[in-house]
Amino acid sequence: MVNQEILYFLKRKSGHISGEELSQELGISRAAIWKHIQELRELGYDIAAVPHLGYSLLSCPDRLFPWEISCFLKNRAIGRIIHYYESLPSTMDRAMELALDGAPEGTLIISESQTRGRGRMGRLWMSPKYKGIYFSLIIKPEILPQQAPVLTLISAVAICEGLKQQLGVKAQIKWPNDILLDNKKVGGILTELSAETDTVYAIIVGVGINVNNDRKTLPHSAISLKAITGHEVIRLDVLQSVLTCFEQSYLEFKKQGIKQILDKWRTFSVTLGRRVRLSMSRKRLQLVGEAMDIDQDGGLLIRKDSGLIERVMAGDIIHCKR
Ligand code: BTN
Repeated sequence: MVNQEILYFLKRKSGHISGEELSQELGISRAAIWKHIQELRELGYDIAAVPHLGYSLLSCPDRLFPWEISCFLKNRAIGRIIHYYESLPSTMDRAMELALDGAPEGTLIISESQTRGRGRMGRLWMSPKYKGIYFSLIIKPEILPQQAPVLTLISAVAICEGLKQQLGVKAQIKWPNDILLDNKKVGGILTELSAETDTVYAIIVGVGINVNNDRKTLPHSAISLKAITGHEVIRLDVLQSVLTCFEQSYLEFKKQGIKQILDKWRTFSVTLGRRVRLSMSRKRLQLVGEAMDIDQDGGLLIRKDSGLIERVMAGDIIHCKR
């Protein structure tokens, strides 16, 4: 807590702030201030100490520390409570444990790396330390279990809006959960739920974004924000934007239903209007046709060559060549 207060004063002052002033502001001795400055330095904050002038903050580390996330976040629910880890097997499992233990809606579980980060269909989500953004949100909406995919829609819209606001890039959504830039995957969403027949206990929305990953560490079909923008991207800024947009979209959904989210989703979609091939691994089924629209529960409507319209809720799609 004291460390955060010291940071607050250091960030507010453009020049130096004396140990005396800090000690008066915080009501602790100058020796205690020095001890806390040392702790902050150990966390990676570069703080200069100049005799007769005092302390000044030269730079902050590239870490998603909870107090840094909270610093400019005005959200009322999403990200108000943060559980931060250097490493986890997967933020999904930790989030589900916390959710079932009573953690409130909006709780954010974030990790600097994951050893068993996962994607849809049992795939692995590579989560190298300090390179990407890996988080899960606990959501406790009053919806039916079959409506859970709307959280994927809300998240996808929030990521696209967040990336646009923060970096000015035009991300697109490939149904159901891929975020693309330049037709390559820059982010993914995984939605898992704990529910009974007609009651949702918790939905865990997991988001992974490739931020500063080096090109050669990513598969050919993936890309990072760094590769797109041509420079290192501040992960904290991207995270704050996405969380802000998430709360706006989620509140909009709670107040007015899914209609407006669907309209936005359609504008970001790269799938609608395309000829697609859908494979559903479990059913060993393939379906080819034109992706016509998305419905209110997140299902994709595909018009087959026979003219029949089929509604699909899960699967992998390939966009056929135009
Ligand atoms: C996908 O594209 O298939 C979804 C990828 C989701 C990855 C995120 S990273 C944070 C959270 N924890 C996980 O283990 N997975 C999600």
